[in-house]
Amino acid sequence: MFLKRLECSACGLEHEWSRLQNLCRSCNKPLFAIVDLAAASYTMTRETLLTRDKSLWRYREVLPLPSDVEPVSLGEGGTPLLHAERVGNDVELWIKDESSNPTQSFKARGMSVAVSMAKYLGATKLAVPSAGNAGGALAAYAARAGMETHVFMPRDTPRANVVECRELGAHVTLIDGLITDCAAEIARRKANEGWFDMSTLKEPYRVEGKKTLGYELAEQLNWRLPDVILYPAGGGTGLIGMWKAFDEMEALGWIGKNRPRMFAVQAAGCAPIVRAFEAGEKNAAEFQNAHTIASGLRVPKAIGDFLMLKILRESNGGAVAIDDEEMIRVAREVGVAEGLFVCPEGAACFAALKLLRSAGTIASGQRVVIFNTGSGIKYLEAYDAD
Ligand SMILES: Cc1ncc(COP(=O)(O)O)c(C=O)c1O
Ligand SMILES: [Zn+2]
Repeated sequence: MFLKRLECSACGLEHEWSRLQNLCRSCNKPLFAIVDLAAASYTMTRETLLTRDKSLWRYREVLPLPSDVEPVSLGEGGTPLLHAERVGNDVELWIKDESSNPTQSFKARGMSVAVSMAKYLGATKLAVPSAGNAGGALAAYAARAGMETHVFMPRDTPRANVVECRELGAHVTLIDGLITDCAAEIARRKANEGWFDMSTLKEPYRVEGKKTLGYELAEQLNWRLPDVILYPAGGGTGLIGMWKAFDEMEALGWIGKNRPRMFAVQAAGCAPIVRAFEAGEKNAAEFQNAHTIASGLRVPKAIGDFLMLKILRESNGGAVAIDDEEMIRVAREVGVAEGLFVCPEGAACFAALKLLRSAGTIASGQRVVIFNTGSGIKYLEAYDAD
């Protein structure tokens, strides 16, 4: 294993990786895993990757977990990058279809890595606040690992997510409130209950799993990153993870200095990052009365807000809000045109592409990647409303 240490993403304070960690003990911001890339590069090269399985554990050298420990895996990662045949119009559009992951969303990536590490470091009971898909993914990986899981979700989370968690053996608590209220409930109870908090970015390894989105994308595009990435951002873990992957790949000598322009796509009813981006703020204020059918985007306050905003600005990207009716309409368009039943979060990115094209923010001919982060099948109430 080439994990060296954990480092605070805000103040740089070092933390040991060899015990369970949540936030920085000095400033309460997220911790990042620092990997010895020079050592990793002896065995993991662009050529050796060609011979490996397609699961995200193909990038084992840049992931945590000692090399003699078996990961908790259900075959996550290795998802298709599909060329959009019709909806791209005048850009070269690619869709990274994450719905083919275990439990049908990209949350599987983070949970495979984070549950593997939590188990290795001795956790026995896990807890997570979830907008829906993260809970399902944690329930699956914890079941696989033989661990106890507690999932806290808003009462109006899509039914499929709730049923899935229960069927996978998780203890499910429905809260009258938002994901932030679920997180507060876990924070209040975790010490007494002996739960390890698996909240995104409050635990250092979900972002490591999500960074494989960046490695896979580069590999599938033959090590030439796209001009633009559109990502549906709630907590922002995928965005932050991909950005980390790009820096690591540059250090490995696999890609150059150029970065895609990164766009965060949010729901009009919950757009804290869009607001903060437009106001030139470094942090995002909590978004009041958050509501959207794109449950994964119903995150009124994200602990990684400052990291997301930095990436959007450094990459000359931006942030776009889409309303729910448009997501539903565009999801049907994508379904008919491309044969993909996308989640509302993914649909929002297609709608954002249209907006950015008509505003001229994205030029014609650009190579654009959209992340369809999950399957529409989990959102039947939203799609079957009429
Ligand atoms: C389908 C889907 N897309 C996007 C997101 C947002 O992900 P992130 O927290 O990485 O921003 C979520 C989170 O729940 C989700 O379930
Ligand atoms: Zn710190």
